[in-house]
Amino acid sequence: LSVDELAQTFSKVAGLDTVPQQPNTYPALNPFDIYRSHITELLAKQTGIEAKIIYPTLAWTAKSENGDLQLAVPALRQKGKDMKAFAQEIGDTALPQFPESPLVEKPVINGTFVGFFFKPAALTSLVIPQILKAGPSYGFNPNFGLKDPSDPSAGRKKIIVEFSSPNIAKPFHAGHLRSTIIGGFLANLYGGAGWDVVRMNYLGDWGKQYGVLAVGFDEFGSEAELVQNPIGHLYDVYVKISKIAAEEADKIKALKEEVKELAAKGEDTSAKEGEIKKIEDEGVDQQARNYFKRMVDGEEKALGIWKRFRDLSIEKYKQTYARLNIRYDDYSGESQIQDESMDAAARIMAEKGVSEDSDGAVIVDLTKYSKKLGKAIVKKKDGTSLYLTRDIGAAFERMEKYHFDKMIYVVASQQDLHLAQLFKIEEAMGRKDVAEKCQHINFGMVLGMSTRKGTAKFLDDILRDVGEKMHEVMKTNKTKYEQVEDPVKTSDTLGISAVMVQDMRGKRINNYTFDMDRMTSFEGDTGPYLQYAHARLCSIHRKALAADPSIPTSPQDFTAQANLALLTEPHAVGLVRQLAAWPDVFINTIKTQEPTTVLMYLFKMVHAVSSSYDHLQVVGSEREVMLARLSLYYAARQVLNNGMRLLGLSPVERM
Ligand code: ARG
Repeated sequence: LSVDELAQTFSKVAGLDTVPQQPNTYPALNPFDIYRSHITELLAKQTGIEAKIIYPTLAWTAKSENGDLQLAVPALRQKGKDMKAFAQEIGDTALPQFPESPLVEKPVINGTFVGFFFKPAALTSLVIPQILKAGPSYGFNPNFGLKDPSDPSAGRKKIIVEFSSPNIAKPFHAGHLRSTIIGGFLANLYGGAGWDVVRMNYLGDWGKQYGVLAVGFDEFGSEAELVQNPIGHLYDVYVKISKIAAEEADKIKALKEEVKELAAKGEDTSAKEGEIKKIEDEGVDQQARNYFKRMVDGEEKALGIWKRFRDLSIEKYKQTYARLNIRYDDYSGESQIQDESMDAAARIMAEKGVSEDSDGAVIVDLTKYSKKLGKAIVKKKDGTSLYLTRDIGAAFERMEKYHFDKMIYVVASQQDLHLAQLFKIEEAMGRKDVAEKCQHINFGMVLGMSTRKGTAKFLDDILRDVGEKMHEVMKTNKTKYEQVEDPVKTSDTLGISAVMVQDMRGKRINNYTFDMDRMTSFEGDTGPYLQYAHARLCSIHRKALAADPSIPTSPQDFTAQANLALLTEPHAVGLVRQLAAWPDVFINTIKTQEPTTVLMYLFKMVHAVSSSYDHLQVVGSEREVMLARLSLYYAARQVLNNGMRLLGLSPVERM
């Protein structure tokens, strides 16, 4: 709703002639902003404290029994006052004139907290039309991404979210799975907040191992399999050739022992030495080195084969990512980092005395900043660069290419040290401004991730297994199962939701156990449960339309006809309060950067919905009541849908 439309609602339901609005707040997007502004006005008048101090202290409450908004009195920073007494004063007793308000009840005091409850009638008539009107954008707020909120022409802030970042020809392990899920969510989150988001995948696609792979492909590769299943096939090839390389290394070791023994006995060692030399010169390891050297030297044929592996893998990844509603703007990777950027970085490090020589290698001693950071190698003795060196160069290049305002690396906590070193080195190089824009979003491990066929190696296998399991679960309800149009597709979507919700349920940093039975259950805080709640809300709508053909099909239309003042039952009011909170939950999520903030809210909201069904029936009620309740449920469906999409889930309409 526009502010003008809101003003009309307000004069009608609350007798207010203007919409309360403090500077830089968004009443048209967030109902809580209206209430915060309103309460601020009242409190400023009553206490003489400046509005801009009061406003930000009015916080969203995790528990609705504490009020819809809560003021922590100490946060007002009034020196020399007794906080409890001051809370009483604000609330009521000392100043018994907390003004009568059309929007909020008299505050409730709890120690140094003052809780405010919104008056239901005004809230309902405000929030439901607001949700219906905003639709898929309800809750999101594109103003947070503005460089200057008071001047939209100054443009939007840019963020790079680097996530997933698997290694070609290596397993897609749990760390990559979590990075994909959490990173996809964060990209949506910043997008919803109006940032200009660059989704980046930083592939592990460079190094001697890609020489090994090419040698292996010569030996074991199949063109047909490569095209059909590049990720799996390259991995198989890599495993086979690595085995040979390892056997050769063992053989050399054994031969060297034999040479030693022969020499000790004074016997001729030349035959054995010849064998060693032959392996060293012609074995996999040397062939791989030669091959990788040709790649480094930019030889077209060598690079062509490698590029083909990379391109085919990316094509395959794209398909899998699409199942998770993820697409990338930039498939970068270790291979893409230019020597020039790494050389430039090396020069700066040397000039500023950041790096030093150590036995022919170049290191950065970070212990002077913190013992924990240790010493980092940035160039090996043989002159080759490392993972860290590439990341330093990459940060350079990304700044140049994107001029980002923020960059997030979504990487497992096993790499805490690596990223801490990276940021510290950037700072030491005199690029504190860049370092400050970078953030490592880390996460814990997944325990016991395996498929039915053994340890999980690829994302596709995990998704296939969970989808199959979901299919079995669905079949246990025969009648319902028969109504689902495409059960395989639906079970696939439900399986993906199961995996994703399980991953996002807890705080990111916590480890969790991959538990197929639990995640696919329809009970408890699971993905299938959320999907079920969404499908049920959709079916309410379908059934109502079927029962009464005079009901307009468009939710906007039936809500316009509805008398929302009929929604007075405690269940209806409780649900409206939850729905009104969604935009504030979104803002809170920008602060926590935790998907669990969204999930916990959605579960709570969905519980409020499911406990309402018995009390707030739609079909069978009088037409007027039916329209009002239908509007309420439609609003709930919209909020659930928006929340699920923010998490990266695809809400289903039937299951
Ligand atoms: N490919 C790396 C791995 O699998 C993750 C890359 C993380 N990102 C980065 N900029 N270092 O461990």
